[in-house]
Amino acid sequence: MLTCPRGTVDLLPGAVEAFQFLEETARRVFAAYDFDEIRVPIFEDTALFVRGIGETTDIVTKEMFTFTTRGDQSLTLRPEGTAGVVRALVQHGLLKTQPVTKVYYVGPMFRYERPQAGRQRQFHQIGFELFGVPGPEADAEVIALCARFLQALGFEGVRTKINSLGLPEERKVFNAKLRDYFGAREADLDEDSQRRLATNPLRILDSKNPAMQSILAEAPTVQEFLGDESRAHFDSVRRQLDAMGIDYDVAPRLVRGLDYYTRTVFETTLPGLGAQDAVLGGGRYDNLVEELGGPSVPATGAAAGMERLALALKAAGLGPGEGVSRPDVYLIVPDDDGMTEASRCCDVWRRAGLRVRWDCAARSIRSGMKGANKSNARFAAILGPDERAQGKVALKNLSGGEQTLVTVEEVVAAARGSEPR
Ligand code: HAM
Repeated sequence: MLTCPRGTVDLLPGAVEAFQFLEETARRVFAAYDFDEIRVPIFEDTALFVRGIGETTDIVTKEMFTFTTRGDQSLTLRPEGTAGVVRALVQHGLLKTQPVTKVYYVGPMFRYERPQAGRQRQFHQIGFELFGVPGPEADAEVIALCARFLQALGFEGVRTKINSLGLPEERKVFNAKLRDYFGAREADLDEDSQRRLATNPLRILDSKNPAMQSILAEAPTVQEFLGDESRAHFDSVRRQLDAMGIDYDVAPRLVRGLDYYTRTVFETTLPGLGAQDAVLGGGRYDNLVEELGGPSVPATGAAAGMERLALALKAAGLGPGEGVSRPDVYLIVPDDDGMTEASRCCDVWRRAGLRVRWDCAARSIRSGMKGANKSNARFAAILGPDERAQGKVALKNLSGGEQTLVTVEEVVAAARGSEPR
């Protein structure tokens, strides 16, 4: 049997509804914050991600799905959305004509990681980016949007971890200090951290290995290396979050897996997810647009993982649950002579917006009623020879029980009137 590749999943009817709910809620919240949708390609030039995300990151060194085309071009399935969005805005000159630009995207991302609960090789993100605002108001807006989105999904007790990674110059000093600190303890570092010591010591702080935690606890924190402006920026973000009533914790050891961040970074975790509990993450990246060939435009943004959100919804008993959609009308036609009229009825009801189930086959009323009940339809419509002779349909309300003889058009009014749809 052929099966889907490792690290991918088929979202079957019944599971896909949670993703629709996430998307619908996100679109509503994004509209309130005045964001527009953008859709960019799923693959890009490999160089875009190498330059954008950072040569020494795990994503670039280990996790990219890269392939060579027949024309010998190296392309990569996007591991994240930010780099492609920046590329598109620069390519189309949008940041010149519209200095403050706010866009969101929804779609699949690809990382060659070891699959486990909440970690896939093809996963989906809802992400958004805000360009053109250097001040802390934009950081606060982005963090607030994330928190309000999670609350709109129904989550309670949402708390965001925030930190400042400072400016590249400040981080350089910090990185050197980390190299000294961890270098003096090299023998006690795990293999991953030893590798990172040479390439990207900041990432050691992100180690989840329990054996590393005592070394990490004593390590210098980035907060000690922030200059006055970075500190003032961070304090202002905090004041604005306080004013909006957004709950957060300062997490001095929070670093991110992508190199483009400057100053504010943040992540939110939710319960019920096991080891992969970060549902969203983001931060400010003031140098990326210029690094990718665009004008000097500050930016900030975030992305949420849809699979993790769906798992968290389930764990919290939120969202649409696992039921597949419920038909308004289940049509039963007991004889072949009724097929043409059945097609016409379905057409009338469907054009009126009802969800109609009909298998395009005649079946006995007994088996039809069984099917109707199993489908959880709101009404069964029986179109037998007697009904057809009178130009009518027998309509049975499957929750109320009563059955009435009505015209084809009256079915629409009855189904619409019976319950909020
Ligand atoms: P990220 O933290 O790499 O950030 O990913 C964001 C979210 O995507 C994670 O919090 C997680 O929920 C989800 N995610 C990541 N990898 C996987 C995976 N293998 N399986 C399932 N879910 C996953 C970014 O991608 C940045 N582009 C966010 C950003 C936007 N920063 C600024 N703007």
